[in-house]
Amino acid sequence: ILEEAREEIAKVSTSRELNDVRVKYLGKAGTVTSLMKRLKDLPPEERPNWGRMVNELKDEIERILEEKKAEIARLEKEELNRKLWADPTMPGTRRSLGHLHILTKVQEELEDIFISMGFSIVEGPEIEEPWYNFDALNTPEWHPARDLHDSFYINEKYLLRTHTSPVQIRTMLSRKPPLAIISPGRVYRRDYDATHLPMFTQMEGLYVDHDVTVRHLKYFLEEFARRLLGENTKVRLRPSYFPFTEPSFEVDIYFNNRWFEVLGAGMVHPNVFKNVGYDPERWRGLAFGLGIERIAMVKYGIKDIRDLIRNDVRFLENW
Ligand code: PHE
Repeated sequence: ILEEAREEIAKVSTSRELNDVRVKYLGKAGTVTSLMKRLKDLPPEERPNWGRMVNELKDEIERILEEKKAEIARLEKEELNRKLWADPTMPGTRRSLGHLHILTKVQEELEDIFISMGFSIVEGPEIEEPWYNFDALNTPEWHPARDLHDSFYINEKYLLRTHTSPVQIRTMLSRKPPLAIISPGRVYRRDYDATHLPMFTQMEGLYVDHDVTVRHLKYFLEEFARRLLGENTKVRLRPSYFPFTEPSFEVDIYFNNRWFEVLGAGMVHPNVFKNVGYDPERWRGLAFGLGIERIAMVKYGIKDIRDLIRNDVRFLENW
């Protein structure tokens, strides 16, 4: 019986199983207990011997059970410790932080460049009256930009501004020259393809002072292009037409072995000065306008302007 019990106990691995074995041998109906019960059926002279033997058996089984119990407790504790164990020398998990949108970064970079050249930032409403958006800017009724096909009209009195030039008008109406301002902001046009968005971001510059010439214009544009894209960047002006500037230019920037057409510019038309109450005999102005999306595309080699607004993290994570 002892050998049998020893083997069974050795096989046990949980305290529950161990308890089953204890009941089997030492319980009320257990093997050892029923041996003890046989005592009364034995002749009196054999009883002391029998009793001692059964007691020794019982003690030995109890001792083995206790031993096993201690072993199981130790194993269970080890297991628990293994589960709870943390290695303080392990590197932490990296948390990914969000960052500014590439357009915001480019806009801030442009703002920094112009602020460092003495310009200040002004903003204006995105819902405009045609007078500020067109008439004050010497853009007559017949001009195609005023057409319903090109502009978003909200009703007869208001439209979504098609450029940030009306901000220049509002600023000149409220401030006396000289002034140097840039006006970043959203503008709206009926256009949508790989190089046009119906809503995009412009930044226009205006510098009004005595004796401002095209040389100043070229200087500002070259300085801006070099700071944004590097020392080797070149700038060229080509004659063009805008109603609010005379002369007017398309401005190309040479970058990565290519010319990019990214700006419109010119000298403020005398009619614009008259419209805001500046004396065109005393004041000269230079103005330029750029699309921030276009600038970002040139600088970062982005092919499709729509990628900038798709909000695909796989794209946005690149910058
Ligand atoms: N306002 C013009 C546009 O939106 C850009 C421009 C600004 C051109 C200033 C010349 C001078 O196209």
